[in-house]
Amino acid sequence: MEVVIHPDSGAVARTTADIVQGRLEQGHAALGLATGSTPLGAYRELIRRHRQEGLSFARAQAFTLDEYLGLPPEHLGSYRSVIRREFTDSVDFPDRAVHSLDGHAPDPVAEAARYEAAIAAAGGIDVQILGIGTDGHIGFNEPMSSLASRTRIKTLTEQTRRDNARFFPAPEDVPHHVLTQGLATIRDARHLLLIGLGEAKAEAIAAAVEGPLAAACPASSLQLHPHTTVLVDQAAASRL
Ligand code: GLP
Repeated sequence: MEVVIHPDSGAVARTTADIVQGRLEQGHAALGLATGSTPLGAYRELIRRHRQEGLSFARAQAFTLDEYLGLPPEHLGSYRSVIRREFTDSVDFPDRAVHSLDGHAPDPVAEAARYEAAIAAAGGIDVQILGIGTDGHIGFNEPMSSLASRTRIKTLTEQTRRDNARFFPAPEDVPHHVLTQGLATIRDARHLLLIGLGEAKAEAIAAAVEGPLAAACPASSLQLHPHTTVLVDQAAASRL
């Protein structure tokens, strides 16, 4: 793992955007996009570069990491809606190049298999952006997820439901079940960018980077990957 400690979240966002831009400029690119608040600065910076500097996503595809089960795709809290609203609708991805899991699919197991096949058909993911949960989860792979897991249904911990309640009208509206790319699915991406911002992530970042490889901290499984870059601000690096 390469760990890069930046003075603040703005510098993390610019570095993330630099890495994505570098990949886009090589030609066709498949980007893995995380939701949550952590990558928003990087998405805003990429939108700015698109508008002011002509950075184009016209030869790129995007895949989101995970989705709530039971929310219709058009629900404001679905990750399909969030990623469009916060990022992809503001740049020039081609129609149908933004892929997401359907949390309303009648057969979620088949939906998970469809998604794995869609990623494979795109040739795999080139750059995967990841946030981290306070409990060390990535995507929605909660602690004790199999390190060999593929895209599947998971049950959220109460801690994660509480952490994500701010995106819903009421805490009880947060779904209990999700679809998420598995830990092995995530590690298939060629370059992983794990971003941690703020003191609340310091413990999880320390466990991911310096702790033992353990299912108790799903992000520690990124230690197995030959090309993981950890981008943190000073606060998130404070326990390293
Ligand atoms: C959710 C998402 C994760 C994300 C995490 C952290 O659980 N499924 O992909 O990394 O939240 O969110 P935030 O960046 O808002 O702290």
